[in-house]
Formats: sequence, C-alpha cells, structure tokens
Amino acid sequence: MKYLVTGGAGFIGANLAFTLSGERKAKVAILDNFSSGNFKNLHGFQGDIITDDIRNDAWFDKAGTVDAVFHEAAITDTTIHDQNKMMDVNVEGFRNVLRFALETGVKRVVYASSAGVYGNGACPMKEDQFLTPENVYGFSKAIMDNVAREFAEAHKDMTLVGLRYFNVYGPREYYKGAAASMMYQLYLQMKAGKRPRIFKFGEQMRDFVYVKDIVRANLNALDAEKSCVVNAATGAPENFNKVIDCLNKAMGTDIAPEYFDNPYGFFQLKTQADLRHAKALLNYRPEWNLENGIADYVKEMKKSGI
Ligand SMILES: NC(=O)c1ccc[n+]([C@@H]2O[C@H](COP(=O)([O-])OP(=O)(O)OC[C@H]3O[C@@H](n4cnc5c(N)ncnc54)[C@H](O)[C@@H]3O)[C@@H](O)[C@H]2O)c1
Repeated sequence: MKYLVTGGAGFIGANLAFTLSGERKAKVAILDNFSSGNFKNLHGFQGDIITDDIRNDAWFDKAGTVDAVFHEAAITDTTIHDQNKMMDVNVEGFRNVLRFALETGVKRVVYASSAGVYGNGACPMKEDQFLTPENVYGFSKAIMDNVAREFAEAHKDMTLVGLRYFNVYGPREYYKGAAASMMYQLYLQMKAGKRPRIFKFGEQMRDFVYVKDIVRANLNALDAEKSCVVNAATGAPENFNKVIDCLNKAMGTDIAPEYFDNPYGFFQLKTQADLRHAKALLNYRPEWNLENGIADYVKEMKKSGI
C-alpha cells in the first residue's frame, strides 16, 4: 500500500507517517511546506517528501498514485485571526487535495477536522449538533466538513472520513511553540523547577487525547464502510489540576500550580466528545486515559532529552 500524508512534518502527521511505514509496512510520501512542521520530527523516516503547498498542483505528478490520502496539513495555530489566510489554506487547500484524489483515482481520503467546530457548545459534543465555532480556525474546519459532505454525495465511489480531533498531546509536538499542548508547556515549566501556571482555579475541563489514539482512529478510518465525520477523543474530560497531578506523578515531582486570571474574554469551560459514532462507524475505542497517556509521554520526552 502507498499513502500520502499531507502535513507529515507536523505533530500528528509525523506520528501517523511513522506508524504507517513501521507497523503497516506501507510506502509513505509526505507533502508539507514546513510552515509549522519540522524535519526533526522525521528523523529516521524512510519515505519520500514532497515540499510544496497543498494549494498548488505541481505536486500532483510527484505524489503519483496512492491508495489513500491522510490530510493533516493546515494552519493549526488557533490564535491566528487572518481570516483570508486561514480559509485559503484550510478550506481551499482541502478542496485541492480532494481534486488530487478525484483526478488520480484515490478512493479514500481521511482528513483532520477539529473539536474547534463546537466552540462553547453543549457537552457531550455530538457530530450533528448546531456548530458554533468561536474562531476562524474552528470555522474553517466546519466548512471543510461541509465541503467533504457535498463531495462525498457527488462521488459515491469515494469514502471521505473526517476526524474531529479534540485536545491532542504527545511526542513530536515540540515545534508547535505556543500552539503545543498544555501537557508540553506545563512539563517544560515543571522541568525547569517552576510552578506550572494555569488559569484560576484549574477547573476548566478538556477532552484530552493521546496522539497514539489519534493515529489509531486514522488507521481505523481505512476500514470505514461509508463517508462520515466523527469525533476522535477519549470521551472522558479531565481538568487542568488533574493534568498537573499526572505530570507530578510521571515526573516524580510535587509542584503546586500557580493560578492566574484568564486574560481572554472567551475560554471554553468544557469540551467532551460523544464517541458513539466513532465507535459504531470506525470501531474506535480510546486506549489511553490521561494518567497513562501522560506517563507514556513523559517517558518519551525524557528519552529524547527534552
Ligand atoms: N493538535 C491538536 O490538538 C489538533 C486538534 C484538532 C485538530 N487538529 C488538526 O490536526 C491536523 C494536524 O495538526 P498538528 O497538531 O499536527 O499541527 P502541526 O502544525 O504540527 O502540523 C501541520 C502541518 O501542516 C503543514 N502545513 C501547513 N500549511 C501547509 C500548506 N499550505 N501546505 C503544505 N503543508 C502545510 C505544516 O508545515 C505542518 O507540518 C491539522 O489539520 C489540525 O487542524 C489538531
């Protein structure tokens, strides 16, 4: 099998590319413009890399024929408010990837959507609830889901699977800077012997999901029988105090958080995925809870000298 992973130099794409080429023994080509990804995520990668923008089509010939596309490339920094740029890269870029699939006969596209589509919506968040994204990033992902739905309706021989990732953390997110997960930011603070800083009083809840579960959701999407958009998370939200507890446990430290006022007008109080569709349509079952995920992640970071 041969797969194309767009955004493969980034956090999730690189984890996916290694699992596809390692565990699945597939040929993998990565398409990335290295805008937020980094070659160091790909040390040891055995496949090809096409350096281009997803919005171009010069890469179509270089990518050649593939069995499926995993589309991870996007502007992923949710604090970017340039609406034109966000919509152009995320939506028009996706449309171009779908055009590639159509023109080269690819029958399956798995793409990254986001829990950002739900904004501060009701929990547990269901795929068919009214979407109220709070920023243009979440809005771009909601429009990608609309584009995918219409495309799948028009091309019944193709399977399009959208995965609405919740808060993903894990190895190879190191180059995302401020956009990296809270697990990573807090780990660095604690490792430097500082008190981890979180908004008062650490009670906001997130459906944190370990990247190994996200990779699994992508692999399961290869077997999906029909096009769909489903949540990818744990379904079991935890708060930021618990994150610090788990980090202390994994790092062998006992550092209390330092609370500070939330400077933003908007901040989600809770996210939680409803996983019924993911279970029914992808046979997806998260294997990592917060404690195990953080313990594994800390082990990986120590191994990498971080
Ligand atoms: N990490 C999360 O918690 C999370 C949550 C929800 C959804 N997602 C989605 O998952 C996908 C992967 O996110 P990530 O966390 O790995 O982010 P990332 O920023 O590490 O990876 C994105 C990759 O896309 C590449 N890219 C960006 N624009 C490009 C373009 N125009 N052409 C070619 N390549 C381009 C970047 O260089 C980078 O390697 C994204 O679509 C993101 O929106 C991530």
